[in-house]
Amino acid sequence: MMRSACCTLTTNRAVILRLFNDLFRGRLSHVYPSESQKSTCCRPPLRCTCTDSQSSRPFYITTPIFYVNASPHIGHVYSAVTADCLHRYKLLKGYDSRFATGTDEHGLKIQQAAGIAGKDPMSFCTEVSESFKDVFQRCGILYTDYIRTTEQRHHRAVEHFWTVLHSKGFIYKGTYEGWYSTPDESFLTPTQVTDSTDSTGREIKISTESGHKVEWMKEENYMFRLSAFRSELLQWFRLNPNVIQPVKFHHLVLQWLEDELPDLSVSRQKSRLQWGISVPGDPEQTIYVWLDALVNYLTVVGYPQNHARRWTAAHHVVGKDILKFHAIYWPAFLLAAGLPLPQKIYVHSHWTVEGKKMSKSLGNVVDPREAMKKFTVDGLRYFLLRQGVPDSDCDYYDDKVIKMCNSELADALGGLLNRCTALSLNPKQVYPQFSNICFPKESPEGLKGKAVSDDYRMLESVYALPGFVEKHFEHLQVYKALEAITACVRQTNGFIQRHAPWKLDQNESKDKQWLDTILHVSLECLKVYGTLLQPVVPDLADKILSRLGVKTEERNWDSLCFLVKYEGGDCTLEGRALGPDLGVLYSRLERSKEISKKATRQKSKP
Ligand code: MSP
Repeated sequence: MMRSACCTLTTNRAVILRLFNDLFRGRLSHVYPSESQKSTCCRPPLRCTCTDSQSSRPFYITTPIFYVNASPHIGHVYSAVTADCLHRYKLLKGYDSRFATGTDEHGLKIQQAAGIAGKDPMSFCTEVSESFKDVFQRCGILYTDYIRTTEQRHHRAVEHFWTVLHSKGFIYKGTYEGWYSTPDESFLTPTQVTDSTDSTGREIKISTESGHKVEWMKEENYMFRLSAFRSELLQWFRLNPNVIQPVKFHHLVLQWLEDELPDLSVSRQKSRLQWGISVPGDPEQTIYVWLDALVNYLTVVGYPQNHARRWTAAHHVVGKDILKFHAIYWPAFLLAAGLPLPQKIYVHSHWTVEGKKMSKSLGNVVDPREAMKKFTVDGLRYFLLRQGVPDSDCDYYDDKVIKMCNSELADALGGLLNRCTALSLNPKQVYPQFSNICFPKESPEGLKGKAVSDDYRMLESVYALPGFVEKHFEHLQVYKALEAITACVRQTNGFIQRHAPWKLDQNESKDKQWLDTILHVSLECLKVYGTLLQPVVPDLADKILSRLGVKTEERNWDSLCFLVKYEGGDCTLEGRALGPDLGVLYSRLERSKEISKKATRQKSKP
């Protein structure tokens, strides 16, 4: 993939250099058609000047708010880490980014869970909500707002939202008769329901999609005119095929919208559901938990008073199981309320554990706190984002985390940092000097540098890397960005290995010049990797950049420069003292006995 622009190239250096120059002048922008091509300033010979300041541009990213009937698991953390990565990336790009997460605390399911736990609903919710908050804080989730649907500001927003919908005639009193799944808090049509048996062999009906038990209900409540929005929604999605990503989920939503869209029940009788927000003007009815929950995205930005500017920049991260609520109900509610629609709905698939759905009853729920203890925060974040493919479900098992972290973080990245900052190669511990004689941009007649064609190819990959990474971050395909970074790290390790700087004689001036050039180029590569990795593994990236002596204000995306000396520019880092050696970047993980046993079992499976 990284090689798309250069697969037809020969290793002829002149051709490669021409390609560099084309890249620098933007002639190949069609090859890497991301926004970065317009704004990025990391290509020599330009000094890094930010051309399109986004400092005042708002950005707003949300996670789903989490039900408090269960403790946080790695699936929840994946939703949060994914959104966190985009938020951190946007901050590095200079956006004024806000990031909201929180807990969904109303509804029948929570009412029942509190009852089973023998607690009053509010203390039950507070306890679990705090545990989500705690896990997110430990995981480095940089949220700017943590919303709970039991807060007063949210009650006010929901009541206002309801009143607007009602006053515009989109809510009417009616009777709902049909299937309801409490675990999903969802109404289902007969075609979404199938026959099954429960653990005692009794015949039951379940939701075809989630597999959860459904019940027949008939009650008088308020209905939302969802049917009135079908064609408008279809038109919106057809005109904006990039709103839902990845594209397979866009097609899925279009398919759903081909079917009839019945009106939606948006309240429950108080006698059945007490734990929720009352319908304004009708204390006998409680607002449907999904309408209540979705409005959280508006509450956070100050609805109904101050939401206008921020709301136009709304981006939602959601799991595939809640796509219908976000891609159909939510836009329809917003259209009815006369509010702008979200910019993007990023959908991700689910994590299974050792091939099975994660569930309390199977006892295979992965506790993120335990995982962080075993693999560190950045180890877990890296694994989830490197292995998590939004398009399809991913399987989690400890041994996979260990292998990935060891090979990519400890060996490849840590090894690279270690090698090119080693005291033995760099006794003065300063950012070494680059020599154009050893690594010439163009090779004048008779003057041959020491760099070989593979080295030029590596430069080419690293120059192109920020553009790739940016494009993949923008689409929230973080695993592709990490794949590209890993490939470059591999190339840089190959560069060092090829030239074996430890074999050069530091007392011999030509050798010393080449040694310093090798180290300079490698450190420049590491500076790029460290900068680009900040949204994914903030602690490790900080360790790398600090060791290189890169100041905090030099870590922004648009101030990223790579190897300016190669083009004859000035490198501000050259000659600067390296930062202190803080030890190993990422310690290799050992397999516990239990994990080894599991891995053997896994291997012997057909
Ligand atoms: N409360 C609703 C969301 C309301 S948003 C207005 C809800 N909560 S949830 O706790 O059940 O799920 C929250 C998120 O976690 C969803 O995006 C869901 O897809 C995600 N995950 C739950 N289990 C998951 C996995 N096993 N794997 C990945 N993500 C998973 O739905």
